[in-house]
Amino acid sequence: MLSQSEYIHAQAKAAKLIKRAGLRVTKKEEAAIEVADFGLSRLEKVGVQILNWVATERIGVKILVLFPQQIMPEHWHPPVGSDPGKEETLRLIAGAVSFYQGARKRMRMTMKADSQVTIAPGTRHWFRAGKEGAVMFSFSTIARDALDVFTNPKVIRATKIAKSGPKR
Ligand SMILES: [Fe+2]
Repeated sequence: MLSQSEYIHAQAKAAKLIKRAGLRVTKKEEAAIEVADFGLSRLEKVGVQILNWVATERIGVKILVLFPQQIMPEHWHPPVGSDPGKEETLRLIAGAVSFYQGARKRMRMTMKADSQVTIAPGTRHWFRAGKEGAVMFSFSTIARDALDVFTNPKVIRATKIAKSGPKR
């Protein structure tokens, strides 16, 4: 769970990193940045900030922002009906990321600016930003984030925002 002010603070921090990476973000887009703490309430350590640029019935384009050392927990994109699941390409724009994928044969990759990786549907993956954080593009087939499956059963995809306390 995040407080309203933690949420807004994280949005502003993410927007700053996106701009530092050389991309433009409107005020409206900044206010729409999604902050996910995965129900663990340790946003600085485990979480992700997402700016959705394209979300149609077929494709998705997002900017993913990780704060310094922040971890996107291990998950995979399951099949949905006749769709084999989301295929996703991550391309790093700024910062560095240690990227891991695969269950039995683990693949580890250090991503620097301009490196990219494509994640096949159903493949487990997780990643952690370096000390300067990271900004990356996510190009994918339709994203149904709510259906992502996480290895840690304590992870909850939808962010809960605490109601503000009583007025003093
Ligand atoms: Fe993913």
